[in-house]
Amino acid sequence: MVLDTSFGPVQVRPLSPALGAEVVGLDLSQPLADEVINGLKAAWDRYALLLVRGQKLEPDVQIAFSRRFGALQEVAQKQYQMQGRPEIFIIGNAEEGGKRIADVSVGRLWHSDQSFIAFPALGSALYGVACPPEGADTLFGNSYAAYETLPDELKQRIETLHGVHSFAHYYAGLRQRDPSQAPLTDERRKAYPDVLHPAVRRHPRTGRRALFVNPAYMTGFAELPGSEGTALMERLFVHQLDSTFLYAHKWRDGDLLMWQNIGLIHVATSFDTERYTRRMHRTTIAASPEEYRLSLLPEATRLAS
Ligand code: OGA
Ligand code: MN
Repeated sequence: MVLDTSFGPVQVRPLSPALGAEVVGLDLSQPLADEVINGLKAAWDRYALLLVRGQKLEPDVQIAFSRRFGALQEVAQKQYQMQGRPEIFIIGNAEEGGKRIADVSVGRLWHSDQSFIAFPALGSALYGVACPPEGADTLFGNSYAAYETLPDELKQRIETLHGVHSFAHYYAGLRQRDPSQAPLTDERRKAYPDVLHPAVRRHPRTGRRALFVNPAYMTGFAELPGSEGTALMERLFVHQLDSTFLYAHKWRDGDLLMWQNIGLIHVATSFDTERYTRRMHRTTIAASPEEYRLSLLPEATRLAS
């Protein structure tokens, strides 16, 4: 199927019933006209995730391409940023000179990238340099659909709630799963204080509403401390993983996957780290404060006191 988001020689084909589209006919290593970028943006906003297969992307080319969608943002795991290119976050178990240069523990709980900061990333672009032939799928969930299928009374109830998103909470869980991670320093704890985000946000360009909750970073709702809030949060976590909302990406070398962090949640799955090498390069596309403001519902702009 070719939909009206196709442009020029480029075709945009839905990837799964739940979400995503594959873009065919593009070579991202070549200079791209503004019309092509605009076509990609329209398709990206519509499908939330775009796949471009068979690419050969040097780090500088990935950085320049990603910048056309917004300013780039650095990640908290500075030790896995590419040497001399802090815009690239290296993910997997790859080594150079006997030293691991990639973060193997990324994204093992459902999350939205960088939701622990005040202006979470609007997008992320992950390029598969070396992908294991089995395992290491990345799963995505459609949180527009998750919101839209909530009963009306629940939609109303959560519209004014704010989730507490905590890097310290995430990091504690990470260290439990991977004791090789260094303890959280006071410096980093201070750099990433807990932040609040509305439980429902809308896409800054399309206005479409999405559930914005995730188990990796959230500890509860600011307005509902105690067991009522925990129960509601867990109910939403379960709801948003309904199988009809999900897409599982099986990686091939040369895949570039671009996803949005409003409208989607995602999670990494395991692979045999003894047998296989995985190396992925991620760029992280920021939301400007203005885009963040546009993502708030009118009902939710009054923050919890
Ligand atoms: C990410 C992420 C999942 C994976 O890059 O943000 O969650 O499968 N990656 O590597
Ligand atoms: Mn992620």
